[in-house]
Amino acid sequence: MGTFDGKVAVVTGGTSGIGLATARRLADDGARVYVMGRREAELKQAVDEIGHGAVGVRGDVADLADLDRLFAAVEEHGVDVLFANAGGGEFTRLEDVTEKHFDQTFDANVKGTLFTVQKALPHLNEGASVILTGSTAAGSGAEAFGVYAASKAAIRSFARTWANELKGRGVRVNAIVPGPIATPGIDGLAADEAGAAQLKGYLTESVPIGRMGRPEEVAGAVAFLASDQSSFITGSELYVDGGLNQI
Ligand SMILES: NC(=O)c1ccc[n+]([C@@H]2O[C@H](COP(=O)([O-])OP(=O)(O)OC[C@H]3O[C@@H](n4cnc5c(N)ncnc54)[C@H](OP(=O)(O)O)[C@@H]3O)[C@@H](O)[C@H]2O)c1
Repeated sequence: MGTFDGKVAVVTGGTSGIGLATARRLADDGARVYVMGRREAELKQAVDEIGHGAVGVRGDVADLADLDRLFAAVEEHGVDVLFANAGGGEFTRLEDVTEKHFDQTFDANVKGTLFTVQKALPHLNEGASVILTGSTAAGSGAEAFGVYAASKAAIRSFARTWANELKGRGVRVNAIVPGPIATPGIDGLAADEAGAAQLKGYLTESVPIGRMGRPEEVAGAVAFLASDQSSFITGSELYVDGGLNQI
């Protein structure tokens, strides 16, 4: 028996990094998984990799019509686990922030998360678990990461409000807070390979445990929050950060 046998899980940003590892974990543990991402080829590859009858819906979480298509696909099954994880960021110092940078970051991370959960509401089954993806950046004040950090601070706030608003339906809402995790998203923060290696070296040194995290380690924590093992946990943040923001 798998933990998620007979359950339906939706993972946005399920085609790479943390989302892909989580989609794989939930599917391996029995869930029927729906993943969303914008890039067609990556989506197809992820669906093959996840297996277990996973379904891919191509779309942008900041586009409300795309979200409608996602939840239309799951309609008959209802949703037991929603991992609103799609997002990302770029390094930009305050003096260089453009309107485009702001809009792109807040569209994916804030607008996308809000409307993913809003559009899921009619489909959430009794006892469903909603997990949002925050970031240690929200509380660290890292230079040149201000817009991203602010967008992730909104995630922490959303988790509190929505946990309150949905408690009457038996729906729990929590945020997962990853520290530096080795994903394609982290590589994408640097201009080139040398920059990516330098960034990873810096991050590795910063983390008390002495290394970056693996996407599977975040997936394990998400699986915990998604399961009945965490039945008395709602409105909380679970850090998966190797101690970065703790000690
Ligand atoms: N890696 C870390 O160290 C770290 C730390 C803290 C928090 N996080 C957060 O964890 C989440 C996943 O990051 P990751 O490191 O796994 O990054 P990743 O490897 O770049 O994966 C990001 C995923 O999100 C999708 N995505 C991005 N924008 C989207 C949009 N507007 N609409 C739909 N899908 C979108 C991407 O697919 P497409 O590009 O094809 O759309 C991809 O599947 C993000 O919210 C990130 O901010 C990561």
